[in-house]
Amino acid sequence: MTYLQMRGITKTFPGGTLANDDVSLDVEAGEIYALLGENGAGKSTLMKILYGLEQPDRGEIRLDGKQVQIPDPQAAIRLGIGMVHQHFQLIPSLTVAENIALGYEPHNGIFVDFRARRDRVASLADTFGLNIDLNARIADLSVGIQQRVEILKLLYRQAKLLILDEPSAVLTPQEVEDLFIILKRLVKEGHTAIFITHKLYEVSRVCQRATVLRRGKVVGVVPVESTSAPELARMMVGHEVTSVRLTEPPAVTTPDRLVLRAVEAEDDRGLTVLRGVNLSVAGGEILGIAGVEGNGQHELIEVLVGKRPAHGDIIVNGQRVNSLSIRKRRTKGIAVIPEDRNREGLSKDMTIQENLVATRYFAPPQSRLGLLNLATIGKMSRQLLQRFDVRTGSDTAKVGSLSGGNAQKIVIARELYDQPNVLIAAQPTRGLDIGAAKFVHEQLLERRAAGTAILLISADLDELLSISDRIAVLYRGEILQTLPSSIATREKLGLLMSGKVPDGTQL
Ligand SMILES: Nc1ncnc2c1ncn2[C@@H]1O[C@H](COP(=O)(O)OP(=O)(O)O)[C@@H](O)[C@H]1O
Ligand SMILES: [Mg+2]
Repeated sequence: MTYLQMRGITKTFPGGTLANDDVSLDVEAGEIYALLGENGAGKSTLMKILYGLEQPDRGEIRLDGKQVQIPDPQAAIRLGIGMVHQHFQLIPSLTVAENIALGYEPHNGIFVDFRARRDRVASLADTFGLNIDLNARIADLSVGIQQRVEILKLLYRQAKLLILDEPSAVLTPQEVEDLFIILKRLVKEGHTAIFITHKLYEVSRVCQRATVLRRGKVVGVVPVESTSAPELARMMVGHEVTSVRLTEPPAVTTPDRLVLRAVEAEDDRGLTVLRGVNLSVAGGEILGIAGVEGNGQHELIEVLVGKRPAHGDIIVNGQRVNSLSIRKRRTKGIAVIPEDRNREGLSKDMTIQENLVATRYFAPPQSRLGLLNLATIGKMSRQLLQRFDVRTGSDTAKVGSLSGGNAQKIVIARELYDQPNVLIAAQPTRGLDIGAAKFVHEQLLERRAAGTAILLISADLDELLSISDRIAVLYRGEILQTLPSSIATREKLGLLMSGKVPDGTQL
């Protein structure tokens, strides 16, 4: 009998978003089932309904053929359903064992039975091959290990069905492989897993079947083995997608346009977060920066755009710019696709037109003698919207009304307009759907062909591998190694991202 059946699940959020539209899902006991879809497709909502965190407007859930009500996560746990969220919910100051047993401690009379707790946790960890120091404090553990703790916590609560919401987003490639081993072990021991992701590669590694969601609707249920990645991508996006790849050698090579020498910086607490960073990017080249989040990428971006002081030299087109403001740096030919477009890249309450000129309203021809030339601005913004294919009714609409992909196009249109000779692209496709991401990649490659030096800081290894000429790995604020993309692999990069320098690899 089918283990889990979700039938006709429909959920509308107060804002009017139809997050799940008559969604059905069948999962057999003992499978690793993929729930696949682009950002906003409704994956998390569907699983939150299963875990009792959201209530559907309509629809029913059956476990082993019996209809169940899941008003809250406690009820879900009682039914053997557990969920690991995108953001972990562990208490940093407590140990692994304490976190796992929290609220479910074995007692001896009125006292917590510490020995029983340790034994039970240890034996579970052993059964599932979850290698963890049970006495370590959460705060001292890597993200990958914390995720194992979350899984162990669910097993301790006797979850049979484990839901993992985009578990790989925070992991290095090796940690992802370790997670897959754990998942396979889980199903071997009689558990079932639902694995949410938008990464096709991962689905093909561990899942047998997948349900693809698009805009809240099921677009297909497919056997993974006999479905190709392009087919899955087409289902997710709704049209054909071919990924952009770097095929041409740099069209123009000019001397290094962006050079960092011995750059050091401190974080907000005064701790050193960038240590002696040296790098250089030539015109017509894309240098990718890889690394697990939190290894100094954020501070590197801030240092480059002038938001954080740095020691050492930041040199743009031969000129040291350390002491220059961002506006001055822009006049030296630097452009920035910021990490967080909503907070830093755009002003939501301003119109599309205003956002498009925000970085250059102070210069001719947009303004003369302090007066804005509205006709010029209007003409320029309409040209940009057309060239960058921004789908919007009017350029006087507020930027806040645009989708993520169209909002990012506004940022890109503005930043590439002046044909910058240095471009800092920070997580340029984060949160974008495949189509919009492809557009961004095409734009970057076009700038590269035109001779711009591009520094691409990205948490997405596939993105780095497909469009960078070289990839530098940032680990604890240091560049551990820089590899030409032609010899960089997921494995090599993954090792470097976890701080290991592979033997015998040439720099
Ligand atoms: N609490 C909420 N309130 C309003 N809208 C929401 C809420 N949670 C999700 N949504 C919307 O529902 C849609 C589906 O979201 P989600 O299930 O998180 O998608 P996914 O996990 O596939 O990225 C999105 O448009 C999202 O903005
Ligand atoms: Mg989600």
